Amino acid sequence: MIDLTLHVWRQARQDAAGSFRTYRVQGISPDASFLEMLDIVNQGLVERGEEPIAFEHDCREGICGSCGMMIDGVPHGPHGGIATCQLPMRSFASGDELWIEPWRARAFPVLRDLVVDRGALDRIIQAGGFISVNTGSAPDANALPIAKDTCETAMDAAVCIGCGACVAACPNASAMLFTAAKVSHLNLLPQGQPERYQRVVDMVARMDQEGFGSCTNHGACERACPKEIRIDFIARLNRDLLRAAIGGPDPR
Ligand code: SF4
Ligand code: FES
Repeated sequence: MIDLTLHVWRQARQDAAGSFRTYRVQGISPDASFLEMLDIVNQGLVERGEEPIAFEHDCREGICGSCGMMIDGVPHGPHGGIATCQLPMRSFASGDELWIEPWRARAFPVLRDLVVDRGALDRIIQAGGFISVNTGSAPDANALPIAKDTCETAMDAAVCIGCGACVAACPNASAMLFTAAKVSHLNLLPQGQPERYQRVVDMVARMDQEGFGSCTNHGACERACPKEIRIDFIARLNRDLLRAAIGGPDPR
């Protein structure tokens, strides 16, 4: 069993000052998940008549992207390739002290404790994350030949769960990895071609408008991404942005 000291960011609402509060937790099973450990802490707080720690969660299996938080300064905790909900408590030793914070980025205001407003990511998708062609039914889709490598690269981008860890990890709070993933999974496929260049212009413009920073190729986003989305999707986005600027479609 694991005993821990937690320093958790508590903030009652967006316009309130926040601070770290310290909690001692005892007897956590190594098989519990990180969110289950927070559930146990919250059960104790409720029993003592105190406000439970607010944190977001839904699927608890790495799909929905809602559970992001900084654990000792690292988005989603110490392991790569998993979301906070998939983080097992056996990753920590008894006696460890952990600092648990919300995402820190101007475009992600803290709503309460560990919960931030990630609506800015939704608005980037609204700006261009759609196609206008009639895709027909499933058999129609199966009749459209697409090279296997292209499909797989598009799927590598499409696994983005919109968690925002890339933004939280980036020293510029840039949303380039997220935006590149959302641009690329459509721009790679034939169905995404009609809006290909307008899509990249509109989504990047919205990203800037939302207050995210610029990408300066630190690579911290790639290391933080629970879906291991590669930074080369940013290069792909930049190529399409350049082609859009010179008004020419991809000659290849
Ligand atoms: S690119 Fe990765 S880190 Fe960024 S929002 Fe998508 S899944 Fe999360
Ligand atoms: S709760 Fe859905 S990804 Fe963690």
